Amino acid sequence: MNILVIGGAGYIGSHMVKFLHRAGHDTVTYDNLSNGHADAVLHGTLIEGELNDRSHLDEVFASRRFDAVMHFASLIEVGESMREPARYYANNLAATLTLLEAMRNAGCDNLVFSSSAAVYGKPPTAAVSEDQPPSPINSYGRTKWMAEQMMSDFAAAYGLRYAALRYFNAAGADPEGELGERHEPETHLIPLVLAAALGRRTNISILGTDYPTPDGTCLRDYIHVWDLARAHLLAVERLFSHGECLTLNLGNGDGFSVRQVIDVARRVTGREIPVAECPRRPGDPPVLVADASLAGKLLGWMPEYPALEDIITHAWRWESSRATIN
Ligand SMILES: NC(=O)c1ccc[n+]([C@@H]2O[C@H](COP(=O)([O-])OP(=O)(O)OC[C@H]3O[C@@H](n4cnc5c(N)ncnc54)[C@H](O)[C@@H]3O)[C@@H](O)[C@H]2O)c1
Repeated sequence: MNILVIGGAGYIGSHMVKFLHRAGHDTVTYDNLSNGHADAVLHGTLIEGELNDRSHLDEVFASRRFDAVMHFASLIEVGESMREPARYYANNLAATLTLLEAMRNAGCDNLVFSSSAAVYGKPPTAAVSEDQPPSPINSYGRTKWMAEQMMSDFAAAYGLRYAALRYFNAAGADPEGELGERHEPETHLIPLVLAAALGRRTNISILGTDYPTPDGTCLRDYIHVWDLARAHLLAVERLFSHGECLTLNLGNGDGFSVRQVIDVARRVTGREIPVAECPRRPGDPPVLVADASLAGKLLGWMPEYPALEDIITHAWRWESSRATIN
């Protein structure tokens, strides 16, 4: 297959490009490099371009026939989305409309979209299934939910076939150590914990120690980035074989607490990781864990790396190799 990977220079997209290459597919990565890295695109062609640039997208679609598009491009910081909603609606929603129009114009009907557990907001149940009605509580989550609804309307009216994949916490790194997470600034727990292990941060803040959870800290679902990549390829194959649109959670199904993440990171790295216990952050649900059984049923997908040890070991290999280079 020929796959156009929008946002393929970012964390998850760059792993996807490598995964597709391994599976024998060709890729063109289209990324404005606002948060991505050209040297993370290890295979195929990289085109530097802005998603909201319709004429550039039309040129790309005219240059070859794409069997499917995978769309990872997005601004991803929840707090920033509340301070600067206009940027988020322009980048995540309006640009997605531009992409949908360019795809329609080019006759490319298959799309896999990076959605998020943020569409659920603060769900009342611990293990969230796709039946849970979306109710996002921040602008970032609303852009994802609105994009899903837009795709659904395009499917009904114009025959778009899409898979909206709602990831929980993407984590880990390429098991071979070539790629990893390089967000700047970093807001995700595991890379921050590993930065503390490397002495790049003085400590790691635990935001709330009085939640109704076994150790008082929040429980989250960490899903290995390589498992996410595999689910995307299975989703495209399912779009081809069955034709119907999909909305699926992608998660581990297991909740790990902040303290568990820090303890496993101490074991894996063999380093001290100082912590600072802080008050809760408003808006954080105590537990957010995926019920990803539908992805298992429809795609035959099961995480290959569900263990927190593996996720942190792979992330550590990446972080520590960067530490030697820098
Ligand atoms: N990382 C997670 O835990 C997580 C969880 C749920 C959902 N997601 C979603 O997965 C996707 C990928 O996340 P990530 O962590 O890899 O983020 P990332 O920031 O590393 O990658 C996003 C990429 O998109 C590019 N991009 C952004 N806006 C663009 C635009 N307008 N035009 C062209 N390129 C643009 C960036 O330069 C970057 O390379 C996002 O859509 C995100 O919302 C991520």
